[in-house]
Amino acid sequence: MSRPPASTLAVRPIRHISGELSVPGDKSLSHRAVLFSALADGTTVITGFRPGEDCVCTMRALQAMGASIEVESKTSLIVHGTSGKLQPPLEPLDCGNSGTAMRLMAGILAAQPFGSRLIGDASLSGRPMKRIVDPLRLMGAKIQGRGQNHTAPLEIEGGSLTGIDYTLPVASAQLKSCLLLAGLFANGTTSVTEKTPTRDHTERLLAHFHAPPVIDLHPESAAKTVRVRGGSRLHARDFKVPGDFSSAAFWIAAAAAFPGSDLTITNLGLNGTRTGLLSVLLRMGAHLQETISDSSCEPAGVVRVFGRKLRGTRVAGVEIANVIDELPIIAVTAALAEGPTEIRDARELRVKETDRIAAMAKNLRAFGVPVDEHDDGMTIHGGAPINAAKVGSFGDHRIAMSCAILGLFAKGETVIEDTNCIATSYPTFREDLVKIAYFQDTGFASLLSPRR
Ligand code: S3P
Repeated sequence: MSRPPASTLAVRPIRHISGELSVPGDKSLSHRAVLFSALADGTTVITGFRPGEDCVCTMRALQAMGASIEVESKTSLIVHGTSGKLQPPLEPLDCGNSGTAMRLMAGILAAQPFGSRLIGDASLSGRPMKRIVDPLRLMGAKIQGRGQNHTAPLEIEGGSLTGIDYTLPVASAQLKSCLLLAGLFANGTTSVTEKTPTRDHTERLLAHFHAPPVIDLHPESAAKTVRVRGGSRLHARDFKVPGDFSSAAFWIAAAAAFPGSDLTITNLGLNGTRTGLLSVLLRMGAHLQETISDSSCEPAGVVRVFGRKLRGTRVAGVEIANVIDELPIIAVTAALAEGPTEIRDARELRVKETDRIAAMAKNLRAFGVPVDEHDDGMTIHGGAPINAAKVGSFGDHRIAMSCAILGLFAKGETVIEDTNCIATSYPTFREDLVKIAYFQDTGFASLLSPRR
C-alpha cells in the first residue's frame, strides 16, 4: 500500500488525561470478521470495522478473490459471502504491514484450488513465516517463502489438505488461527494445542459464524486444544466490532500514570485474553474500574482509570502472550513508575513489526530512562526525570504511539519521526489524544502538531 512522505509528530507536556473516549474497532476482530463473513453463506453486516490500513488490506484481498463487499462507511461493511468459493486473484495479494492478514490468509489459500502470492511491505517481508509454512506443509500444503525463515513473498500452489494434530512451538494467535482456518478446508479434523493461552478471537468468531470448534482445557496446566472439522460451513451473522483494547492501552496507561487523571473508555473490547495490561497496572498500584456490559460473542464494556503514582513490577511467563502488543506502552509506564520493572520471556517482541526490545531500549534511553536490554526483554529503571527527545518510530506504529505518550510526560517538546506507520492501526490517534489530554500550556485546545 503506497504511503505519503514520512511525517513527524510533535507532542508537548500535559497536566493530566481526562474525559470520555471510545476508540476505533478492534484490529484482530476486524480482520477475522471480514475474513469469516467473506467465507460464509449469506450476507453479514459488520459495524465498528477498523478503518486502518492493515484491515483494509484484508478486505481488498478478499474483494480481489471475488467477495462482494459494500463499504457503507469507513466502519460499516456489508459482506456478501462466497460460501467458501473464492476466485483466483489476478494480482499478488498485498498484506501491507499486517502479519495477521498474511498468516491468516495463508491458511485459507493453502487449501484453495488455485495458486496465489502473498506480498507485504519491507517490515512484513522480514518477518518469519516458517512458523506457518512448516505445519501447513505437514497438512500437505505447497507453500514456499524466501530463505530459511520463509519470509514473504509467499508462493502458494493451493490444493487438498489433511488435518493434523499440532502443538504450537511459539505462543501465537496468528499461527493458531492460520491452522484452524486451513483445518476448515482440510480432510478430517485439525487440532491445535497451545501451551500458553493466546487471544481466542478465532475460536469465538467460528462459534459466532455457526462453526463452533471443540475446545479441551488441560486442567493440569494453562494449555488448551482447539479442534475444527474439515468441511464445516460458516453462516452469515451480523457482527459489531467493539473498541480495540490495544489502542485504548495507550490512554489507559497514560491516565493511570498521571496523578489527577480521570479517564473513561466506553464500548471497549474486554476479552480476558487481551486485557492483561489491567492486571499489570493493578500490580503497579493503579486505580482502575472495569465493567463488562456485553458478554455476547466478545465481552465489551467500560474502563475507568484514575491517575496516581505507580511502582515497578515484573511481567513474564504466561502473562506475556496476553500483553504482547502492550509491552511497548508497559515499558513507557515502567519509565514513569518508581523503581525497576522487569519484562522477560518476551523474545517474540524481536520479530514484530520491528525488533521492539531494541527499539524501545534505544528510545527510552533517548528520553533519559536507564534500560538494561535482555535477549528476551528489558529492565526499565523508572522514576528518573523524562527529558524531551527526538526519536524514530522504526516504522512501527506501536513504537511511535508509545513514545508519543512518553513525550506527554517530558519536559519540553518531543518529536517522533516517521509517524505514517500510525495509520496502519490507529489513523485517528492524534485526534483522540487532543480530545483527552489537558496540555500544560494550552489546556484541552492542544498544540499537537503533525509536520511534513
Ligand atoms: C494478532 C496476534 C498477535 C498480535 C498481533 C495480532 C492476531 O500476534 O501481536 O498484533 O490478530 O491474531 P502473534 O499471535 O503472532 O503473537
